[in-house]
Amino acid sequence: MYSIFFLLLCQLCFQYFGNELTLAYAKSFVKKSDVNDDPAVNINDENTEPIIGVLSQEISKLIASKFPERNYKSYIAASYVKFVESSGGRVVPIWIGQPREYYEDIMTKINGVLLPGGATYFNQSNGYHDAGRYIYEIAIEMNDKGIHFPLWGTCLGFELLVYLSAHPNEPRTYCSSRAQALPLEFEKDYDKSRLFANASADIIHILKTYPVTANFHLYCLTQETFAAMKLNEIWRVMSLNHDWDGIEFISTIEHLRYPFYGTQFHPEKNLFEFVKKRNITHTSSAIRASQYFGNFMVNEARRNHQYFANRTEEANKLIYNYNPINTGILGSSFQQQYLFDDEDNARDTVNSLNQSLIIFSITSAYTALNLSREVWL
Ligand SMILES: *[C@@H]1O[C@H](CO)[C@@H](O)[C@H](O)[C@H]1NC(C)=O
Ligand SMILES: *[C@@H]1O[C@H](CO)[C@@H](O)[C@H](O)[C@H]1NC(C)=O
Ligand SMILES: *[C@@H]1O[C@H](CO)[C@@H](O)[C@H](O)[C@H]1NC(C)=O
Ligand SMILES: *[C@@H]1O[C@H](CO)[C@@H](O)[C@H](O)[C@H]1NC(C)=O
Ligand SMILES: *[C@@H]1O[C@H](CO)[C@@H](O)[C@H](O)[C@H]1NC(C)=O
Ligand SMILES: *[C@@H]1O[C@H](CO)[C@@H](O)[C@H](O)[C@H]1NC(C)=O
Repeated sequence: MYSIFFLLLCQLCFQYFGNELTLAYAKSFVKKSDVNDDPAVNINDENTEPIIGVLSQEISKLIASKFPERNYKSYIAASYVKFVESSGGRVVPIWIGQPREYYEDIMTKINGVLLPGGATYFNQSNGYHDAGRYIYEIAIEMNDKGIHFPLWGTCLGFELLVYLSAHPNEPRTYCSSRAQALPLEFEKDYDKSRLFANASADIIHILKTYPVTANFHLYCLTQETFAAMKLNEIWRVMSLNHDWDGIEFISTIEHLRYPFYGTQFHPEKNLFEFVKKRNITHTSSAIRASQYFGNFMVNEARRNHQYFANRTEEANKLIYNYNPINTGILGSSFQQQYLFDDEDNARDTVNSLNQSLIIFSITSAYTALNLSREVWL
């Protein structure tokens, strides 16, 4: 009986002093500031908490049909989220079907955008293409104003970047490169590009030698089209490849003026997608090469120093408010997907009471400690 009482008391003691200790620690932390604010550590003044917006897209009929009771409209394959996260970035989902102001607003608060691959068409209104057009135009405006705002396009996202730059022409042609694992055929001067200038000899050797790039596309961009539509005046082509029928296609590009990059292949699939018999290379070399692209993309975002108005707004927007679903077992080629309905898209605040409580506690602690944004805990 006494021992139980003592235990309880002790626990209260600990809670009390434990909190006091935390407060004392937090205050000293504020004075000394964070290790990332130390110019002797963060020697290049990087944004050490980069946030990448990942654009959602129209959900597939297959996955929508598996959830008849829900009204899921859009999705993000979790592999793209993990791709960003495993290079030290965080992710904010970007909704499709929103007015231009929404994209303008979110793009002043994040540090770059990833346009994922997928299977949607560019002729659907209020979809991936319309959102991508806003993002592309706004990113150009921002970079023209001197704000380093990177875009990364993978597969369909790569096609979208070129498609938007070729407007009103359709630069894509049909080809056949599904489940095709390929080594890159580098162009002369590829090493003068920003994307590959700092790649180690090891990475270049892997990319050149082994079939480590995962291709899943039925459209291609060709040198002929680039010449005919003067796209060479906009993009630098760093590598080519040949599809199942021997048709040559462009596999890596970067914008000549802006920090925009694209790969026709899927570096995130080597890391996070395990559909059998689809020729996704999972050797340790393939993983290393894929991580090179993720690191490059997130490092570009580290050069952008924008941020959300406050901790609450940031917490509300991050992908952590959503849970991916195991869609691999439902027949999808994506192991996991985040599925979104109209309510998600309309939501500006977090969904569950628990999350609100957590955010409320963080905000209260934050106010109590009189912390400024620069010293968030
Ligand atoms: C969009 O393009 C696809 C492929 O060319 C076509 O099958 C579909 O009918 C088009 N949809 C609309 C709304 O035009
Ligand atoms: C995987 O690649 C091999 C050649 O390396 C090819 O024969 C096979 O058809 C490919 N698999 C699929 C599903 O296309
Ligand atoms: C390559 O590395 C050098 C030295 O670290 C750096 O100054 C330069 O910005 C890097 N280039 C790119 C494109 O990242
Ligand atoms: C955080 O920023 C948002 C957007 O500017 C604003 O609406 C909200 O009131 C702010 N919240 C706090 C706690 O400052
Ligand atoms: C909050 O969390 C508790 C414990 O994890 C759980 O039992 C409860 O259902 C949650 N409430 C809400 C509204 O999500
Ligand atoms: C909070 O910070 C402001 C500005 O740094 C200061 O003027 C004020 O006295 C602080 N309040 C408390 C309670 O420490």
